[in-house]
Amino acid sequence: MIDIKNLVHRYTIWESDTKKSKKTVLDDVTLDISPGQLVAILGPNGSGKSTLAKHLNVLLLPDEGTVWIDGKDTKDAKALWDIRSTVGMVFQNPDNQIVGTSVEEDVAFGPENKNLPSTLIQEKVADSLRAVGLLHKRKSSPFRLSGGQKQRVAIAGALAGTPRCIVLDEPTAMLDPAARKEVIHVIHKLNKEAGITIVLITHHTDEVVGADKIILMNQGHIIQEGTPKEVFDNFELLKKVKMDVPQVTELAWNLARQGIPIKTPVLTEEQFVTEMMRIYEDGKNREDC
Ligand SMILES: Nc1ncnc2c1ncn2[C@@H]1O[C@H](COP(=O)(O)OP(=O)(O)OP(=O)(O)O)[C@@H](O)[C@H]1O
Ligand SMILES: [Mg+2]
Repeated sequence: MIDIKNLVHRYTIWESDTKKSKKTVLDDVTLDISPGQLVAILGPNGSGKSTLAKHLNVLLLPDEGTVWIDGKDTKDAKALWDIRSTVGMVFQNPDNQIVGTSVEEDVAFGPENKNLPSTLIQEKVADSLRAVGLLHKRKSSPFRLSGGQKQRVAIAGALAGTPRCIVLDEPTAMLDPAARKEVIHVIHKLNKEAGITIVLITHHTDEVVGADKIILMNQGHIIQEGTPKEVFDNFELLKKVKMDVPQVTELAWNLARQGIPIKTPVLTEEQFVTEMMRIYEDGKNREDC
């Protein structure tokens, strides 16, 4: 679905009106994302996550290396609209993404720009709003919705373009914990039920424990790639790049360090309870012997 080979991106920095320099922010990035995967990209501020996301939708082009989306090279100008229909984007600030005065108008914006017949547009809008659980709000003003609902409208807007992949760049950064859960739930549902490939960029490590793969970035490089278990097992590396880990993961690590026989990494509260019960039962069995 997404195939990136040796991608290099350099921004031009204007030091004065006449003097410019280049800053390399993606350096030899190679990455493969299969159809239907939910891939999370983690990394500290400035590590290159948004720059990478922009390459997936041809908002930026490689200085070196190649990005293929569904086999199409992003440098091929003829493939631009195909790639943009394949990959939908959702950004951090829901307010900046609102373009309609009603929810349905907002979601219809993309399909209307493609000059589709109006019955088909209505169908796409209804299907997209149903998928994010907001069909009942279709007549509302997007500005009157909660932050979580606005972000779900933005996701519906991306969905109305019938993408095979959606890239979300910190979609929960401006949301409270309840709204974050709402949005993450919708993202997982689209992945599991509609088979949409998801690339989720986030700073919240608790949002990535259900991902198929985590990419950890630092200073323009991919420094680790693996399942949540593999990545969170490397606690020291996460700490080194100043990433927070889920609280329950950190607690389990601290207990293990104190000599409690807990199997790390623990990624969820349920796993933590299971581990605690196992340790308790083991202790009881030993006492009984
Ligand atoms: N348009 C630009 N011109 C010059 N430098 C830029 C531009 N956009 C980003 N940068 C720089 O490129 C580097 C990577 O930025 P990017 O936004 O991709 O990081 P990020 O991982 O998304 O960070 P954050 O977590 O803060 O969103 C940073 O040092 C940033 O300052
Ligand atoms: Mg960013």
